[in-house]
Amino acid sequence: MAATRVGLIGAGGVAQRHARVLAGLPDAQLTAVTDVAPAAAGALAETYGMKVVPDVEALLAEGLDAVYVCVPPFAHGPAERAVIEAGLPLFVEKPIAVDLDIARELAALADERKILTAVGHHWRYLAIADRARALLDGRPVRLVTGAWLDKVPPVGWWPHRDRSGGPVVEQAAHVLDLARYLAGEVLEVSAVGNGVPPAVEGADIDSTTVATLRFADGAIGTLAATCVLGWKQRAGLEIFADGLALSIAEDGLTVRDGDESYSVASDPDEARVAVDATFISAVRGEGDDVRVPYAEALKTHALALAVAASAVAGRPVAVPGV
Ligand SMILES: NC(=O)c1ccc[n+]([C@@H]2O[C@H](COP(=O)([O-])OP(=O)(O)OC[C@H]3O[C@@H](n4cnc5c(N)ncnc54)[C@H](O)[C@@H]3O)[C@@H](O)[C@H]2O)c1
Repeated sequence: MAATRVGLIGAGGVAQRHARVLAGLPDAQLTAVTDVAPAAAGALAETYGMKVVPDVEALLAEGLDAVYVCVPPFAHGPAERAVIEAGLPLFVEKPIAVDLDIARELAALADERKILTAVGHHWRYLAIADRARALLDGRPVRLVTGAWLDKVPPVGWWPHRDRSGGPVVEQAAHVLDLARYLAGEVLEVSAVGNGVPPAVEGADIDSTTVATLRFADGAIGTLAATCVLGWKQRAGLEIFADGLALSIAEDGLTVRDGDESYSVASDPDEARVAVDATFISAVRGEGDDVRVPYAEALKTHALALAVAASAVAGRPVAVPGV
């Protein structure tokens, strides 16, 4: 079977990561790339031997088998629409938009056209996430405490609410997605933002947000997000069931189960490779283990947006069932 021809829309940080991974997959062929910043597309194309094309329309004329959309949150919409209309499998980075309307519209369109989709919530591909799920099987979750404690990433759009959606939507969404994977749906959130932007020029986001979460299955939880550090301190979740405490992050799982305690190390890169390998395998009709199709990411996005909305409104917000 011929190699799967992949096109990239957006050639920034995360596109470079996907290109590195895809270049290492035997069945994928990096074919063409477009970016509104031609220099970014040019640099990526040179590294991986791809063709630079001026826009999405030209990209879709390259005889592709699948397209990755790796644009910043505010830029979602037109690229995905064009890929779906072309009938091509679509991989899109999180967050899938800055609001719910565009994401809902694209989810409906992809569903209507029966398009294979995948979203970059790669934490679900961690072997330790499955291990945590197995440990929680039959043991109701009582408490979830999630945190994303980090710096402001070095991309200009990030500290602007209307461009990124803010730290909860843009960053802590990974934690919220894992919380949903391990503890189920969240019905209602209540959040507070500190009203103090990070010390970056033009920033208009809260540098710190805390939220409480009420899960459908009875668990309650918290989320803490801050971007006031110069480094990534921690991003992960702690989950408590009767007689069971789990602490999970990309680099490992720590378990205390009654009197038994142990840790399982995890290589974060494995999940980053798996999210691409699984998508390409699904495109080729060889596998079907895409863990976060667009419709699933829409639920995580709705939850993150509800947290952000609650912080703005200063009252609890029901999480829409999308
Ligand atoms: N899943 C993950 O672990 C992970 C990691 C990093 C980033 N991301 C996500 O990926 C997205 C992009 O992040 P990044 O770090 O690559 O940002 P970036 O700013 O480094 O790159 C984005 C690129 O998209 C280009 N672009 C903007 N609008 C475009 C458009 N309409 N058409 C084509 N290109 C366009 C920009 O010129 C830029 O080169 C963000 O939503 C981010 O959250 C996900």
